[in-house]
Amino acid sequence: MSHPQSIIIPNIILIGLMGCGKTTVGKYISRTCKLKFIDTDQMIEKQSGMSIPTIFKVHGEAYFRSMETEVLKKIATKKSMQVISTGGGIIIHPENRELLKTLGFVVWLKTDVDTLYQRVAKCTNRPLLRTANPKEVLSKLIAEREPFYQETAHLVIDTANLNVDELAYGILESARVFHHHD
Ligand code: S3P
Repeated sequence: MSHPQSIIIPNIILIGLMGCGKTTVGKYISRTCKLKFIDTDQMIEKQSGMSIPTIFKVHGEAYFRSMETEVLKKIATKKSMQVISTGGGIIIHPENRELLKTLGFVVWLKTDVDTLYQRVAKCTNRPLLRTANPKEVLSKLIAEREPFYQETAHLVIDTANLNVDELAYGILESARVFHHHD
């Protein structure tokens, strides 16, 4: 797939639960289109000088959520055409949902619980899944958050049976149409 940099597209913002592929797809798009890739979790870690698990442990989830808002406001001051991967819970706050929509083209990578679980089961850097039954937690998070992802996204892609190349292609073509009609 070739997507030259000359194609004009808005910021592309990827949302969805932990393990849905935001980072993989985001980095792939950034590589193929030579766009800057940013990750809200990484920005928060850099800004605070702490890892996500440490922020949750020391300051709690509410503090982390307020940092997500701060980071989105910061991104809003930057110029367009970036690929932005976000933390899975960034859509919880209504203010964040509004900010996300104004930042560019928002894509929800909708993924079933079994796939999510397979991908995140072995990771230890997600404090919300450090529990006895992470699969149950994921199911609960899906139920709680799906309406928020749906409300925020300009495009919903069911990631089942699509590889990263197909996902990137679908996102880029839709982003161009979105930009054209914006
Ligand atoms: C979270 C998802 C994580 C990270 C934090 C909380 C969530 O990001 O922001 O652990 O609430 O779903 P990823 O979705 O990139 O794993």
